[in-house]
Amino acid sequence: MNLQGDVERILISESEIQAAIDRVAAEITTRYDGVEFTVVAVLKGSCVFASDLIRRIPIPLELAFLGVSSYGAGTESSDFRITFLPNGNEIKGRHLLLVDDILDTGRTLQRVRAELELRGAREVRTCVFLDKPARRVVPIQPDTRCFEIEDKFVVGYGLDFAGRYRNLPYVAVLRAEVFARHSRLGPAAG
Ligand code: PRP
Repeated sequence: MNLQGDVERILISESEIQAAIDRVAAEITTRYDGVEFTVVAVLKGSCVFASDLIRRIPIPLELAFLGVSSYGAGTESSDFRITFLPNGNEIKGRHLLLVDDILDTGRTLQRVRAELELRGAREVRTCVFLDKPARRVVPIQPDTRCFEIEDKFVVGYGLDFAGRYRNLPYVAVLRAEVFARHSRLGPAAG
C-alpha cells in the first residue's frame, strides 16, 4: 500500500518547504549568533522539521527533546500531558527555542513554555512549521513560523492522522474516504 493513494492534494510541496526552512533558519541564525542556545523539539510531530531546520543553522546549538502525549487519535487536538522534559541543566539559565510542527489551539506550546520557564529557562522562544491562527484558543503567537495555513486537517512532514502519514515529504490533505475507513474499521486498522 502506497500512502500517496490516500492523498487528495498536496498543499505545500517539498520545494516550498525547503525554501521556507532556509528563510527561517537564516532568521534563527541571525537571532542567536553569539548566544548559546538549545533547540527543544516537541515530539513526535516536530522530528522531521527539527532535523531539517538544525542542519541549515551553521552556528553552535544544542538539541533536546520534550515529550507530549495527547489522548485520542482524531483530527482535533485534545487533552495532553508532558511525558518527559530535558534534564534540569539543559533548561536552567538557557536560551531555548521550542520547535513544533503545528500551532493549533496553542495549548501545547503555552503549557510547555510555562513549564520550561518554571524550571528556570532564561528565555523561551517558539518556532513552528505550520501556524493555524483560526484555531487559536489561547493567546500565543509563534516567534517564527514557516507557513500560515487555513483551518484544514493536514498530514505529512511530521504531521499524522491516527499515527500515519508523518513520513510524507510534503504537506497534504487526505481523501475523505481515509477518515471514513478509519472510523469504520477502528483505530487498530489505521
Ligand atoms: C500536535 C502538534 C502540537 C500540538 C498542537 O501534537 O505536534 O504539539 O498538536 O496543538 P495545539 O496547539 O492545539 O496544542 P499531537 O498531540 O498531535 O502529537 P504528535 O506531535 O505526537 O503528533
